[in-house]
Amino acid sequence: MTGLMKSIRKIKALKIAKHILEDRVSAAKLKAGRYVFHIGSTHTGFSLEKSVSYIDTVYDDYMKYSGLGKADLSGKSVLEIGPGDNLGVALRLIASGAAKVACIDRIYPSRNERQQHGIYTALRDRLGPGERERFDSAVILKDGKARFCGDRIKYIYGVDIKDADKAVKGESFDVIISRAALEHVYDIDSAIDAMDKYLKKGGYHIHKVDLRDHGMFTRDGYNPFFFLTIPAYTWALMTKHCGKPNRKRADYFEEKFKGLGYDYNARITNLMTREGEIVPHKKLIARGIDYDGGDLRTIEEIRPRLLAEFKRLSDENLLIGGIFIVARKM
Ligand SMILES: C[S@@+](CC[C@H](N)C(=O)[O-])C[C@H]1O[C@@H](n2cnc3c(N)ncnc32)[C@H](O)[C@@H]1O
Repeated sequence: MTGLMKSIRKIKALKIAKHILEDRVSAAKLKAGRYVFHIGSTHTGFSLEKSVSYIDTVYDDYMKYSGLGKADLSGKSVLEIGPGDNLGVALRLIASGAAKVACIDRIYPSRNERQQHGIYTALRDRLGPGERERFDSAVILKDGKARFCGDRIKYIYGVDIKDADKAVKGESFDVIISRAALEHVYDIDSAIDAMDKYLKKGGYHIHKVDLRDHGMFTRDGYNPFFFLTIPAYTWALMTKHCGKPNRKRADYFEEKFKGLGYDYNARITNLMTREGEIVPHKKLIARGIDYDGGDLRTIEEIRPRLLAEFKRLSDENLLIGGIFIVARKM
């Protein structure tokens, strides 16, 4: 082995060791019941305009890609997985007519209460009389703080969705939503089984899932598929408690939801090999339109080193870097 190769190996090993260490720290914190983490804090560093626009985009995407309208939400109960540091999407759903929204997060992402108060106030200021009345039934904005009314918005943290039975207490929901959360759920199989129990017949799952490596290696210039070469045992040590990606691919979600009898539809939101989103999200991608030989060469370079479970996938399947799932329980 040349000196250069040895150094590269060492750097990879160091990166992996760093992720394992971070996971151990997360495990110790969770075991001690310390749920405040500096992750999932999407709005930290956002301007007020950016926060409001982010909440609008998340809400609009749920409505647009599911085809549901405000009338469909009227009186319905919604479960949001992994809301992060802000419950603005839940408030928008309530303002649109949802009866209640339960938000479950495995941790409490750190937040600036005053900034959050400002975001909620800005969301409220735009509403018409009916919507504002519903909004006010769900949150009290006072003294720079937001206090949620539990019968309208129930915020539960420190609970993994797969273990939510006690927190959900036999409730069932019409719609289950998430954005940028399912890829962080370590035991996603048990989580989807649990969510299936909480969803009413005819109800909808609507989830946006980012299948990329979240910068774990790409931030340092690695091939975007490099994380799919790390053995499962090592990956578990790196990710089990800290919420780093579970590496499930698009085909996993399709098989899982279809296996549970759902009418499953997914659109592609991103490619593994390119920056930026595919807008509007597409059902299919095509060579010459969405990707080209350059994207395929990125796969070719690494395909021999991919784990068997990923190597078996077609190029087009591997290229999918994000999906928007709409699945109806039949
Ligand atoms: C990247 S953040 C996204 C937050 C928010 N949805 C947004 O779009 O800004 C992912 C969120 O999912 C939560 N999460 C991850 N795994 C979870 C699990 N197993 N159960 C419940 N929440 C989870 C995280 O704690 C975090 O708040």
